[in-house]
Amino acid sequence: MKNLNLILAGVFFTVAAPFGGLLLGGHAQLGALGRAPAEEGGPLLPALEPGLAIQGRQVYLQLGCVACHTQQVRPAGQGSDIAQGWGARPSVARDYVLQPQVALGNRRVGPDLANYGARAKSDAEIAAHLSAPAAGSAMPAYAFLFSPAKDGSLQPNERGAALIAYLKSLRQDYSSPEAKLKQ
Ligand code: HEC
Repeated sequence: MKNLNLILAGVFFTVAAPFGGLLLGGHAQLGALGRAPAEEGGPLLPALEPGLAIQGRQVYLQLGCVACHTQQVRPAGQGSDIAQGWGARPSVARDYVLQPQVALGNRRVGPDLANYGARAKSDAEIAAHLSAPAAGSAMPAYAFLFSPAKDGSLQPNERGAALIAYLKSLRQDYSSPEAKLKQ
């Protein structure tokens, strides 16, 4: 086996080249991506997430909401997301740089939630929907996140309050260097 070293080198490069190309290439392209202003001197975006919303992401992941909801708005030519009112502009990689776990999802049983915070109604209405979606909705009821108060309103428990804060924090309605909002 006088060519053993050559064979081993071949095996090494066969494994190393795709690894380098896929992982390191991707990292070189996006690894340094951070918050940025849409225009010079503007605020850094995406905005920092409130602490309660960060807790709420864990509730969202634990309860499997990502099985039915995506968080990625496709560009106008690639689907009807924007026409359906799910987003003001397409999602870009920079939108997710602050998120330790990105809940992009891959199945849309329910609406896309990437920009839900921009169309969300009051806390009470979000609570009412989560605890009892309309009859016939494919969405399960998450009534265990709430308990009825004396006045009949729904009182969210700790996880319920965090989940509502998280849902309200989901916004992609600002201009970013890669995707400007149409004026
Ligand atoms: C089995 C699929 C399924 C799961 C799991 C699910 N949903 Fe839904 N969701 C739906 C469907 C279908 C709708 C649209 C009908 C409706 O409003 O009930 C919806 C609607 C919504 C809406 C309203 C969106 C809008 O644009 O008005 C929100 C907010 C929402 N879901 C949040 C959640 C959260 C948070 C979880 C996890 C706790 C969750 N969903 C889990 C299917 C699902």
